[in-house]
Amino acid sequence: MQRAKLSIDPAFVVAPVNRRVFGSFVEHMGRCVYGGIFEPGHPTADDAGLRGDVLALVRELGVTAVRYPGGNFVSGYKWEDGVGPVEDRPTRLDPAWRTIETNAFGLNEFMEWATKADIEPIMAMNLGTRGLQEAIDLLEYANHPQGTALSDARIEHGAKEPHDIRMWCLGNEMDGPWQLGHKTAEEYGRLAAETARAMRQFDKDLELVACGSSGRAMPTFGAWEATVLEHTYDVVDLISAHAYYELEGDDVASFLASSVNMDLFIREVVATADHVGAKLSSAKKINIAFDEWNVWYLRELQRSGMPEDWTVAPRLSEDAYTVLDAVVVGSLLITLLRHSDRVTAACQAQLVNTISSIRAEPNGPAWRQSIFHPFALTARHAQGQVLDLRVDAPTLDTTKHGAVSLLDSVATYDADEGTLAVFVVNRDPAQPVAFSTDLRAFGEVTLGDAVMVWDEDLFAVNTMDDPDRVVPQPHRSAEVVGTSLQAELPPASWSMFVVQVSR
Ligand code: AHR
Repeated sequence: MQRAKLSIDPAFVVAPVNRRVFGSFVEHMGRCVYGGIFEPGHPTADDAGLRGDVLALVRELGVTAVRYPGGNFVSGYKWEDGVGPVEDRPTRLDPAWRTIETNAFGLNEFMEWATKADIEPIMAMNLGTRGLQEAIDLLEYANHPQGTALSDARIEHGAKEPHDIRMWCLGNEMDGPWQLGHKTAEEYGRLAAETARAMRQFDKDLELVACGSSGRAMPTFGAWEATVLEHTYDVVDLISAHAYYELEGDDVASFLASSVNMDLFIREVVATADHVGAKLSSAKKINIAFDEWNVWYLRELQRSGMPEDWTVAPRLSEDAYTVLDAVVVGSLLITLLRHSDRVTAACQAQLVNTISSIRAEPNGPAWRQSIFHPFALTARHAQGQVLDLRVDAPTLDTTKHGAVSLLDSVATYDADEGTLAVFVVNRDPAQPVAFSTDLRAFGEVTLGDAVMVWDEDLFAVNTMDDPDRVVPQPHRSAEVVGTSLQAELPPASWSMFVVQVSR
């Protein structure tokens, strides 16, 4: 059997675990909002129409922050349509997803949901069909306490307290030709800078995110970030990155190594941002908001095409996730955590029904998809500091990424609790690996939880009728021998080991 070893030492720290890395995304797309988090009349819905069964799963998932309301949707959205008496709200066409938007759910409903879900809101603004004035109007409506037309309108609409939204995205994927109001880097950079500057005149401490590339394969990638940051460096805090991965044909090995691509993407954005910082002689560092990432069977959506008819909340991209997808999601999260010094926020896209961890049927049950499990376990157990590991593992040849390390791994250490958590993926689709890690630097250790996401059938999925077909399994081979953690990692598996350190 192949062997792989990790070296872990609590003295070598990358950065604290940033809780915002466990963010998610709610877009007015398909049934994420309508029939997802919001379904008046559902047996578990509260007076506001918020589904209680979905809320319970969102809490269990451990989501900390949610980006809203889009996505491509936001680039044609008028936020004013979604506030005030529901009966007065206009019905509109949403060209991004070719659907009818009733506006029954808007900013104040989202904020009520966010409070109940105990998550931080991340608000995206429309810089596609709109601009500076609408952005500062929204900011005033949302965050100003009272005594102005817009803040008093919010109070009249039932939201007495200001929402105090701290993190704002300056548009969405403005580099993409599919985006309403798509712009060149020069055009967008200028607009983002003037909008950010104006927002800071209201509140200098806001955290602002400039649009980076909507994918590493975009022809403008790299140049886009450089130009946008040359305009915005002093007035934004973060730049976004988006990445979606899917199994292509039967190339399981390349799919399992998707995080190699994400890792490269992060390092290239960091290098570009630091290059601009150097040119500007700035001591400031721009961090990354990886505010859309997931496995997404986008080719399937492209094949089936957008809905022909304009309807309300059609089923869109309701991907049924497999065991294999869950392993890849676990691996992507490992990669985001490993870059905690520069990736300070991330949002898995999306939360419910559309490209989601949680599925919900109209008037029916809600359940956890396979990808729910690695996310929930990581969000719960990754605490304290991210440690800088050394990996000694064989490589594996892949068609898309060349030779890659067999292991993808990260460890976190919570010194207060004396808890070390190790997350590791065996990328080999066919062979197990004998895994060990020397924990001498921690002193005396005992094994706590040891679980894995793995199955004989890589393509098993959870469904409404069989919602627990894919669940984490105990890692029976795991043991601590002396100061060494040892286990056999099955092929194509995600594992988590929690180790208690005696102090
Ligand atoms: O999350 C689905 C879509 O993917 C978003 O609307 C868009 O920003 C991205 O292309």
